[in-house]
Amino acid sequence: MRLEGREAWQRTRTCGELGPCDAGQTVVLNGWVQRRRDHGGLIFVDLRDRSGIVQVVFSPEQSEEAFHIAEQVRNEYVLAVRGTVRRRPEGTANPKLSTGEIEVVAETIWVLNQAKTPPFYIEENIDVDESVRLRYRYLDLRRPELKRNLMLRHRAAKVVRDFLDAHGFLEIETPMLTRSTPEGARDFLVPSRLNPGKFYALPQSPQLFKQLLMVAGLEKYFQIVRCFRDEDLRADRQPEFTQIDIEMSFITPKDIQELMEEMMAAVFKETVGRELTLPFPRISYLEAIERYGTDKPDLRFDLPLVDAAPAFVGTDIQVFRTVLAQGGRIKGINAKGCAGFTRREIDELTAVVTQLGAKGLAWIALEGDGHIRSPLAKFLKETEMAELKRLFAAEPGDLLLLLAADPYTVALALGQLRLYLGQKLGLIDRNALAFAWVIDFPLFEWSEEEKRYVAMHHPFTSPLDEDLPYLESDPARVRAKAYDLVLNGVEIGGGSIRIHTRSVQERMFRTLGLTPEEARAKFGFLLEAFEYGTPPHGGIAFGFDRLVMLLAGEESIRDVIAFPKTASGTCLLTGAPAEVEERQLSELHIKTTTAGVKS
Ligand code: AMO
Repeated sequence: MRLEGREAWQRTRTCGELGPCDAGQTVVLNGWVQRRRDHGGLIFVDLRDRSGIVQVVFSPEQSEEAFHIAEQVRNEYVLAVRGTVRRRPEGTANPKLSTGEIEVVAETIWVLNQAKTPPFYIEENIDVDESVRLRYRYLDLRRPELKRNLMLRHRAAKVVRDFLDAHGFLEIETPMLTRSTPEGARDFLVPSRLNPGKFYALPQSPQLFKQLLMVAGLEKYFQIVRCFRDEDLRADRQPEFTQIDIEMSFITPKDIQELMEEMMAAVFKETVGRELTLPFPRISYLEAIERYGTDKPDLRFDLPLVDAAPAFVGTDIQVFRTVLAQGGRIKGINAKGCAGFTRREIDELTAVVTQLGAKGLAWIALEGDGHIRSPLAKFLKETEMAELKRLFAAEPGDLLLLLAADPYTVALALGQLRLYLGQKLGLIDRNALAFAWVIDFPLFEWSEEEKRYVAMHHPFTSPLDEDLPYLESDPARVRAKAYDLVLNGVEIGGGSIRIHTRSVQERMFRTLGLTPEEARAKFGFLLEAFEYGTPPHGGIAFGFDRLVMLLAGEESIRDVIAFPKTASGTCLLTGAPAEVEERQLSELHIKTTTAGVKS
């Protein structure tokens, strides 16, 4: 038992691996006290390590000294225990525990460290404010679900690496201190001490470097890489997050999509044992917006948006007439079987759309007896009602919800209403995995704020060949060789075939409003590289945190990141971001205009 060079207290086995076949074995275990129960003459300690929990029994008959020490231990003490595995006495097995058929009868105990009482229980499904969990993240991570999530994350990264390695990809690191690559968000800047007044940016993604690796002839690149974006945060966004970043030369969108489908199939099979059906469906951007009001539709349920305008061509309803005359849309959703909704329920639906800028929600309940209940009832012509019934395939018992507004608001508000109804009506199969490629994106979108076209993905995305002639004359009609992968309404990845000639890249920059001088100043290195034999190339990047979140069945990416930040970008554990010394700032040639400097 005593191994050469080992301390007596060092473990010989882990808690979770012990089972009936180990009965009779002497073992040393190391771990934390999950729980101690005092039964007078016997003390039970549930001992936990990363692998699981096992019950340890102390009795004075076995060892007086160990029994007395065990009397003193508290939750989360770190122990070493030496004892013998035995089957639990008849009728005392615990089926909830993987080690529930056995226990370890303790002979010796070492208290390796004591612990204060933790601010929350170290167990599954606790009801504790997230800020407390983040403040004591090292305790939170002791809880089984978070530990499981980190193990799953590790496993998923390993499957991805092995898959890409087997397909000839090279994992290559790219700089963290770089020039900004414009992906649409704000950069995190890092001042340069050696170059006063100049700044690095932390990468929003390795986009340009991976393209340069293609120019360099490396052909197949990947990296599981941290990216940084200073944007407003949500449940599925963090200021630093991880991408599975991929680039390949000499490929078509179909090649990338098929390979990525195989990679997803491997990840889901080898981490959570789920078989995916390939290929994933493809849906065009326009169809996604038209039918679901969003470019990341949750396809676990249908409940499509329907164009109601044909029913209102010559309508007397003033708002509808005005909206149509101004180029707006009238669309709606048939909430099947919901004619019985109360006023209050309808008010809740209305609140969903008004929060998103709609002025109101019109509704028509088709009662069982053929009678119509609706604020519009007295304005609706019979022909209009008949046409609505046809368009929505409406039957008695249905509730038609109609929204008239500009196209953007209609899509946004009805898209959200669809999700709200999907939840409320229980239409979402929690077990389903609804993947889809969204394709045929526009290359540009108009920015009202900046009064110019901006790239829908990024400025390096290639236009469709047939749309190239319209790059300057009609940017709005130019489609992109871009594709997003959506899973259950979450955008888990996005990519494109890239521009690989200097002339097209320069035209792209010009349409985005950059003068040739600005383009050269910011991207001269890329334009120059394009002149030295750049292969056609393309790629994709997945949001790794989002992918693991969906694998783990979590609602927030914070639950799959070891040390995440809060919605306001702070780390409650370390207190980052924090003030710095005046001296540090002066070395960096920086003066701040706000407080926040230690004096
Ligand atoms: P994109 O900007 O679409 O593409 O990013 C790729 C994927 O990264 C995830 N993601 C995020 N995850 C968590 N927190 C964030 N703040 C965050 N931002 C993005 C999303 C997204 O689909 N260079 C291109 C890829 C390419 O064209 O190859 C890029 O970065 O899941």
